[in-house]
Amino acid sequence: MKRVLFIGEINVDLILGGLPSLPVLDREIACTSCELTIGSSTAICACAYASLGGDGSFMGLAGTDPYGDFMVRGMSEFGVRTQWVVRSPDVRTGITVNLIVGKTRSQVTYPGSIAAFGKKHLRLDVIPGFDHVHLGGLYLQEGLLPEVTEILTVARQAGLTTSLDPQWDGSETWRFMEEWLPLLTWFFPNSDEAMSITRNGDLPSACEALAARTANPLIKDGSEGVWCWIDGRAERIPGYAVEVVDTTGAGDTFDAAFLYAALEKGMGLRSAARFANAAAARSCRFVGGVNARSSYEDVLEFQRRFGL
Ligand SMILES: Nc1ncnc2c1ncn2[C@@H]1O[C@H](COP(=O)(O)OP(=O)(O)O)[C@@H](O)[C@H]1O
Ligand SMILES: [Mg+2]
Repeated sequence: MKRVLFIGEINVDLILGGLPSLPVLDREIACTSCELTIGSSTAICACAYASLGGDGSFMGLAGTDPYGDFMVRGMSEFGVRTQWVVRSPDVRTGITVNLIVGKTRSQVTYPGSIAAFGKKHLRLDVIPGFDHVHLGGLYLQEGLLPEVTEILTVARQAGLTTSLDPQWDGSETWRFMEEWLPLLTWFFPNSDEAMSITRNGDLPSACEALAARTANPLIKDGSEGVWCWIDGRAERIPGYAVEVVDTTGAGDTFDAAFLYAALEKGMGLRSAARFANAAAARSCRFVGGVNARSSYEDVLEFQRRFGL
């Protein structure tokens, strides 16, 4: 089996649901549901990859606090190997508080371990023992950001394949992106990210602009599916129509499923993208990022029911 190393942020998600309004200044309001779940783009991706049956390891930083315990134990229960997760008493594990009012989601993040993860926690020497490196959620990771080019360079020199999901950059300057793109086997932005990075207003043009700079851009476009660059032109692989419960983690599940299909099942771009659309759509029918727990067979069954 291919060994995949996920390098990224570790934080919990606290989801407070059924709020009557956003918080009111100097008042206390009650919500109707409360759930603590595995958060962070890269950890959700690693858990989804392990659920499918893949061999995933995680490199990151967590505090020695209860949220750190929760994340490390949670990832292990999914089957993710956590031996390269550094625990430090000097940081607090990051947390994102999600306030759900109707269909809206307002978030407050304490970065903690997310921003503190950096050079001194990385083990570049173990990278050659893997087959693939995936990085995610980069622009909240102040400490990791300047190290990414070196991580990708080490991986490529050792013959690994590589992938990256940038997530949104609040500054929209997309620091280091030009260095990363040529070092990637697969690049997984969503539509907003791809349009902002390329300063293009439509997705086929954004796809073309990215294809000039990276081997395989895959632009995730919600229920529309994903735009890929195939045989010299942008092609949309349509998504699946499902009743959506919660889209948290859909993009991370897409990345995990695409990697599993390509690395473990040897699928080509179109089939892997279809498989990933199915896994991501299936995840939209569950609350939280990791609760779909889709196995490979679950996704095939979903494709049989909803169309191949
Ligand atoms: N409403 C939806 N219905 C069906 N599939 C969806 C839906 N939203 C997302 N997906 C699937 O999840 C993938 C990622 O979602 P998207 O919202 O584009 O990315 P991100 O979660 O990174 O913002 C899509 O490419 C698609 O396969
Ligand atoms: Mg995303």
